Amino acid sequence: MAAERKRTGMTTAYTPMVQQYLEVKNQHQDELLFFRLGDFYELFFQDAITASKELNITLTGRAGGLEDKIPMCGVPYHAVDGYIAKLIRKGYRIAICEQVEDPKDAVGIVKREVIKIITPGTVLSSAVLEDGHNQYLACLREEGEDLCVSFADISTGECQWYMAHGNSRREFVLDQIFRLQPAEIIAVGAIEDWEKITTSIMQKLPQCISGKFAASDHESYFTKHFASNCDAYKNDLVRGTVEAMLEYVHENVKADLAQINKLTAIARDSFMILDATAIRNLELVRNMSDGGKKGTLLAVLDYTNTAMGARRLRQWLEAPLLDLSKIKGRQEAVGVFLENLNLRDALTENLKNITDLERILSRIEVGSANARDMVSLRASLQVLPNIKGLLRDFCPQGLLKNLSQHIGLHESILATLEAGIVDEPPFTIREGGMIRTGYDLELDELHDIAQNNKEWMQKFEQRIKDQSGIKTLKVGFNKVFGYYIEVSKGSVSLVPDYFIRKQTLVNAERYIVPELKEFENKILSAKEKIQQLEYYLFNKIRQEIRSAIVEIQETARAIGSLDVLLSFAVAAFKNNYICPELNNNQEIFIKDGRHPVVEKLLEREIFVPNDTLLNSSEQRMIILTGPNMAGKSTYMRQVALLVLMAQMGSYIPARQASICPVDRIFTRVGASDDLATGQSTFMVEMNEVAQILKYATKHSLIILDEVGRGTSTYDGMSIARAVVEFINEKIKAKTLFATHYHELIELESLLEGVKNYSVAVKERGNDIVFLRRIVPGGTDRSYGIHVAQLAGLPKKVVERAEDLLLEYDGEKIMTATAIAPPDNFATAEPSLFSGSVSKRLLDMDIMTMTPLEALNELYKLQEEARTEGGSK
Ligand SMILES: Nc1ncnc2c1ncn2[C@@H]1O[C@H](COP(=O)(O)OP(=O)(O)OP(=O)(O)O)[C@@H](O)[C@H]1O
Ligand SMILES: [Mg+2]
Repeated sequence: MAAERKRTGMTTAYTPMVQQYLEVKNQHQDELLFFRLGDFYELFFQDAITASKELNITLTGRAGGLEDKIPMCGVPYHAVDGYIAKLIRKGYRIAICEQVEDPKDAVGIVKREVIKIITPGTVLSSAVLEDGHNQYLACLREEGEDLCVSFADISTGECQWYMAHGNSRREFVLDQIFRLQPAEIIAVGAIEDWEKITTSIMQKLPQCISGKFAASDHESYFTKHFASNCDAYKNDLVRGTVEAMLEYVHENVKADLAQINKLTAIARDSFMILDATAIRNLELVRNMSDGGKKGTLLAVLDYTNTAMGARRLRQWLEAPLLDLSKIKGRQEAVGVFLENLNLRDALTENLKNITDLERILSRIEVGSANARDMVSLRASLQVLPNIKGLLRDFCPQGLLKNLSQHIGLHESILATLEAGIVDEPPFTIREGGMIRTGYDLELDELHDIAQNNKEWMQKFEQRIKDQSGIKTLKVGFNKVFGYYIEVSKGSVSLVPDYFIRKQTLVNAERYIVPELKEFENKILSAKEKIQQLEYYLFNKIRQEIRSAIVEIQETARAIGSLDVLLSFAVAAFKNNYICPELNNNQEIFIKDGRHPVVEKLLEREIFVPNDTLLNSSEQRMIILTGPNMAGKSTYMRQVALLVLMAQMGSYIPARQASICPVDRIFTRVGASDDLATGQSTFMVEMNEVAQILKYATKHSLIILDEVGRGTSTYDGMSIARAVVEFINEKIKAKTLFATHYHELIELESLLEGVKNYSVAVKERGNDIVFLRRIVPGGTDRSYGIHVAQLAGLPKKVVERAEDLLLEYDGEKIMTATAIAPPDNFATAEPSLFSGSVSKRLLDMDIMTMTPLEALNELYKLQEEARTEGGSK
C-alpha cells in the first residue's frame, strides 16, 4: 500500500486545515459553511459550487492534500453582508465559522468555531431586513387535535402564538401564517398532513423555507424570556411550541436575545381574517403585476415617517379590528390630527428623526451595533420630549394620551449617549474614534500622549540637529519602519555613532536612535490602549442600553402606532377622506364611495363615485352585470377596501358612510394559474370557492368576480348559480357577485335578498361610452367585441366575431324556441345555415384545408348565400 502511494505520488490525507474544515462541515450539513481564512470567508466542495453559481463569483481550486484540487470560492470579510443577504433571500441557511483565537497565539492551526447560523427566519442583518416589513420565524407543534403556531421577529422582539383545535385547525393556523408571512417555518415533532401543509405554504409563500426541528425536551428558555408573564402560560402545548422556537433561535443566533421579552396571544376573534387569497386579490401590500408596493392600499395609506410606523401600518392592514370602540379610538386620534395642521407638521418633523429603534435594540443586544447606531439612537431619544409635549398639549385624552404615556424619555441613557459618543463615529468599533473628549479621564490622558507627539518630535528634531550639526536632518514616520531620522547623502559623514542605520534610499539614509524607539513604543501603545479603552467604554454604554431594552421597546411600539395614526390623518387630508360611522346592525352603507387606489392612478379620467348598500335582509347579495371594462371589478374591490379601511380605523374615500364590521373578507377575483404547483386555472378557482363556502359566515363580506368563467359556459353558469343559491340560503353573507352570465339576473325574482345592479353605459352610434355608474337593474349585454376592438384586435377578427355573435344569438333563440316556443319568437330571423350552403359547410373537412382553400371556399359560400338569401 505504501509502495503504491509512493508510485502514484498520491497522498491520502487532507491538510490539517481541510480536516478542520471537514469536522466543522460535518456538524453543518444543512448550511453553507462560510469558513474564515484571514481576510476572506471561503467555501469549499459542494458549498463552493453552489455559492459560486448563486452569487456569480469565480469558482477556483485549492490544494488540500489530495491529488485533485478542492473546489473553492470566497468573499472578502468586509463585504460578506451583501453576499449573505443574497443567499438568505434565496432561502439558504448559512453557518459562519470564525477564527476564535489570535493567530499569533495559535499552536498549530488556528482554532475555528461556528459563531452563528443565519437563516431567513433568524437573520438580523440590515442588508436582508426590509424597513417596513417584519421578518418572522414560525414554529408549529401538534398534540392530538390541537395545533399551535408561534411567531418571532427577532429583529424587533415581537413574539406571538396561536392555537387551533379540531378539524379546521390546519386552515386556521394557515390563515395566521399567510397573514404574517414568515420567512421560515419549523415543525417540531409529528404533524398530521405536514406534506399538504408545506405544499400549501410553498404555493402561497414561495419565499418561505420550511423544515423539521428536533427540539430537546426540557424547558430552558421560556422562563428566561418571559419571566414577567410566565405564569399566564400553563398550557403545555403553547409553552412547548414557544420553547422549541426559542431553542432554535438560540442555537442559531447564540446570544442572550433579551429583546424577546413579551409573548402575546393572537386572538382570532379580535381581528378580521384575511386569507392569502384576499390579501393578494385586494392588492393590499403587493400589486399583482410585479409584486411591488405601487398601486397597493399600503402605498396609498403610507405616510409613515418611521420604520416602526411602516411595520405597524402593515400589521394593522393585515389585521383590521372588529371591536367598535377600538376602531372608534383610532378614528378619534386621526380626527385630532386632521383638525390640527400644525400638530401634524410638528409631529412629522420630530418623527422623521426617529430611527428604527426596535432593530437597533436587537443589534445592540446581539453585539452587532456600532457607534453610528448609537448616534441614531441618541438623535431619536432627543426628540421624544417634543413628541410627548405635543401630545400632552393637544391630546389630553383617549388613545393618544395612552400612547403618550407609553413613550418614555430615557433620560439617563440619553445623557450617557450625549456625553459619550462623538458626532461622527467610524463604522468599526475596534479602532477608536467613537468616544467624546471629557467622557473618561484615562482616555483623555492617552489622547494627550498620542496627540502631543508632534510637539515632542519637533523638539527632538531640533535637539538632535543641534547636537549633530546636520542642518538638513528630518524626523519622520512610516508604517513599516516606524519613526526614523533621515539624513541626506551629502551629510552622512556627519552622522554620530549612536545612530543605527535602518534603510537606504536613493538620496538619503534613515536611522533610528533608542530614544526615538522608546517614544514610538509609548505612542503606539497609547494608540492601542485608546482602541482597547474605547471598545471597553463602548461596550459599557451598550450594557447600559441593554438594561433599558424593555422600556425603549415600549417607547418604540408607541411611536409606531402614533406614526400610523398620523399617517392615516395625512392620507385622509391629501385624498379627501371622511370618517365612516360604525354600526352593528349589519348594514354597509356608502355614499359616493371611491376606489382608494384606482382614483389615484387615473390620469385623464376622473373617478366616478358610487353608492353601496348591503344589509342582512332585502339586499344582502348584489348581482352585478355590465359590459366588459365598465368597472364591475373595480367597484367590488372598492367596497371591500372601504370596509377594510374603516375597520383599520382609517378614514375612507366617500362622502358619507356607515359600516358594520365584517368578520372576514373573501375574494374570488379573476383567473389565476398555479401551474407551478400543478393546479389548473379552474381547479384554483374552485378551490377558492370551496374555501369561501366552507368558512364564510353571515357576518362576512364575499366578493365573487366571474365565478365559473374557467370552464364551459353551461358548466360555469350552473356552478355560478348553485354558488349564489347556497350563499343566499345557507350562509347569508353580504355578497357582491359580478358576472357575464346574464341568465343569473332572473335570480332577483327567485331569491330573497338578491338585487340586480349594473354598470351603465351609453350607446352612441357604434360606440359605447362608459358611464361608470352603478345603477339598479341588470343588463344582458357585455359589449365584449367592442372592448376587443378597443384593445386592437385585427379588424377582420372583430368583424368575424360580430357575424358569429349574430349567429350565436340566432342559435340561442332557436334553442329557446325548441325548449319552449314562446309566441313572440315566431318571427325569429331565418338561420343563415340553411339550404345548400349548410350542406356544403357540413361536407367541408376543415382540418385538412389550407387557409387559402378555406378563404376561397368562404368566398364561394358567401356568394351562394347571397343568391340564396336574396340579399346583395
Ligand atoms: N368608477 C370609475 N371611475 C372611473 N374609472 C373607472 C371606474 N371604475 C373603473 N374604472 C376604469 O375602468 C377600468 C376597467 O374596470 P374593471 O376592470 O372594473 O371593469 P370590469 O367591469 O370588471 O370589466 P370585465 O368585465 O372585463 O372584467 C379600470 O381599470 C379603471 O381604469
Ligand atoms: Mg372584471
